[in-house]
Amino acid sequence: MANLQAWLIYFLCSSVDACTGFRWDRQWLVVNQRGRAYTQRVEPKLALVEVNLPAEAFSEGWEPTKTSYLEIKAPGMDLLKISLCKPPKVSDGVSVWEWSGSALDEGDEASKWFTNYLGKPSRMVRFNAASETRPVDPVYAQGYSIMFSDMFPFMLASQGSLDELNKLLKEPVPMNRFRPNILVDGCEPFSEDLWTEIKISQFSFQGVRLCSRCKVPTINQETAIAGPEPNETLMKYRSDKVLRPDKKQQGKIYFGQNMVCKESLTEGKAKVVKVGDPIFVLQKVSTAAEAVA
Ligand SMILES: *[C@@H]1O[C@H](CO)[C@@H](O)[C@H](O)[C@H]1NC(C)=O
Repeated sequence: MANLQAWLIYFLCSSVDACTGFRWDRQWLVVNQRGRAYTQRVEPKLALVEVNLPAEAFSEGWEPTKTSYLEIKAPGMDLLKISLCKPPKVSDGVSVWEWSGSALDEGDEASKWFTNYLGKPSRMVRFNAASETRPVDPVYAQGYSIMFSDMFPFMLASQGSLDELNKLLKEPVPMNRFRPNILVDGCEPFSEDLWTEIKISQFSFQGVRLCSRCKVPTINQETAIAGPEPNETLMKYRSDKVLRPDKKQQGKIYFGQNMVCKESLTEGKAKVVKVGDPIFVLQKVSTAAEAVA
């Protein structure tokens, strides 16, 4: 039975491409000379890069014109404007984690901008959905693919989980440390650990794997400086040792639930999710130890 558990308070972009994620989300990547992805893990200054899309880009069915831009800002840098129309040039040999392929190259101006900003040769590329696919690890979900996100198209976290963590921290951290693309409120802390199937609007999302966290949550997103928290606190109560004592120990910490999404067959409904949409929990496990991780 559908159980109203929470409501949506934030998402990165509203149109849902049921397969690869929200429209415009994780479509771009900054790569080094050899085409390898930079991330905040090695280039924390990327935390200070801000992006802005035109408001219309969030409406369903909107297509960019010649004067539609992705605007990119960073401290000490001029505004960089990237046309939202597809660039013509292809870069071969782009790689992120286990995937490699070709991508669309955003050109020399973008390359110069990131090269100046990071102080090392860089290019900016866009996922080329017309020629490439990057499947999600079939061990966790079969038949889904992503663009340049780490591993899954969606990561959901709840405000309750963050509030609970912040009760234990001397200095509270904001949600941008965890960067979910779906943020929900109104549920118990860490309920999302248990969710294996939820419904938002006409979309059915499957919880496929607890999100194990790397170094990025320790990087302050306003200063790009890394510190010991929230890792140290999460090690005390969100580690595999605590949550999954009977499973193989890998010294991991968890925050959030990775998800994939299936569009259900409701006809005539917009392919969007909106702030305020209710979350219905259709299936769940009873403890975090039972969740896939
Ligand atoms: C988190 O803390 C543990 C224990 O201090 C340490 O072994 C681990 O490397 C840290 N992880 C990150 C991502 O900083």
